[in-house]
Amino acid sequence: MRTFDKSYSLLDRASKVVPGGIPGHQSPTLLVFGSSPCYVERAEGARFWDIDGNEYIDYMCAYGPMVLGYNHPKVEQAARAQGQMCDTGNLPTQRYVELAERLVGIVPIADWAIFGKNGSDVTTYACRVARAHTGRNKIIMAEGSYHGIGAWCTPFETGITPEERVNMLPFQYNDTEEFKRLLEANSQEIAGVILTPFRHEAFHDSEMPAPGFLETVRKTCDDIGAVFVVDDVRAGFRMHMGGSLESFGVKPDLICFSKALGNGHPISACVGKDGLKDAASQVFFTGSFFSAAVPMAAALATLDEMEAIGSVDLMYERGEMLKDGMLDQADEHGQEVNYSGPVTIPFMTFAGEDGWEKSKLFCKECYDRGVFFHPFHNWFISAAHTEEDIKKTLEATNAAFKRVKQEMG
Ligand SMILES: Cc1ncc(COP(=O)(O)O)c(C=O)c1O
Repeated sequence: MRTFDKSYSLLDRASKVVPGGIPGHQSPTLLVFGSSPCYVERAEGARFWDIDGNEYIDYMCAYGPMVLGYNHPKVEQAARAQGQMCDTGNLPTQRYVELAERLVGIVPIADWAIFGKNGSDVTTYACRVARAHTGRNKIIMAEGSYHGIGAWCTPFETGITPEERVNMLPFQYNDTEEFKRLLEANSQEIAGVILTPFRHEAFHDSEMPAPGFLETVRKTCDDIGAVFVVDDVRAGFRMHMGGSLESFGVKPDLICFSKALGNGHPISACVGKDGLKDAASQVFFTGSFFSAAVPMAAALATLDEMEAIGSVDLMYERGEMLKDGMLDQADEHGQEVNYSGPVTIPFMTFAGEDGWEKSKLFCKECYDRGVFFHPFHNWFISAAHTEEDIKKTLEATNAAFKRVKQEMG
């Protein structure tokens, strides 16, 4: 049985000086409160150690960024070398152009690229580019989809005015008929559609695009001259190196990347087609740290390494191994589960559960055995997960399934 004394005593200290103790998605109230760690001490490859010294094989990968594993030697070497020259400066460095050229070379739809820090920067930017290009205001998005903390999309409404959202038109992901109706009813006003490559919101099984859904979005956008934006912030570089929609053979107009792009270094990118370059240049997009060169050097090294090792295929192999193993175990222990999403960004829920109690118990049992999953949010595989890691993980999950069966049937 692991203890988290240092974690919770630091959380007590934090609650005196930090609003909410730990703000946002890292709040321990969004894990298994009392039975999961609150603070990390260090991380390496596919593992991290919390401040109580507990070690974990990590399936959250910092909620996506760690695609090659923590503290990757080649990425960190590139970052250090750039840091000795210039990081944040008065002017951008050559890395800016090199990284834009690199993305244009890798992503088939990309003729240009522009960089920010967080996913929210580029999803907000992409919507503005769509408006600048079309001269229209409204953007269609899937109900419940997470695109960041911009007022137009944050799922939490505190401090947001309704006026900031009047131009967002929600529909149910994969409901092609509703989508078409919404589009037809507002066709003169629609600037664009923003979608994640598959449905991956928290507290929900993931859902792949239904046959024909993405094609309908593409075609109807073409018919009315609207811009098709893909928010690949979470899935980018875990399904396909050229943007996740390449896996489905559908080409969007703009793609937003972040998370995996810099293997943990803060960087995001919006890439787009030539026809949108004028509009893109008219939208004012800047920030004190947007051109910082260390994350760009890290991103260049990350892209090199991902290509060199074939990281997407590797993650699919490991992901299949985890999925097959866990599904066999669920079966053996009489647990009906939904294992959803691409195997590189998987999620497992217990069928027919209301209160997430089985998921929380399952995760708690895994934490006790040194494996870190999330009860309500999709997981991430990285290229640093070895076969040995997956085997060890499966020992933990087997014991966790057994415990769930004993305690909750
Ligand atoms: C699909 C998606 N879009 C946008 C964002 C926002 O990115 P950031 O938190 O870096 O602003 C996230 C973050 O989790 C995301 O998953």
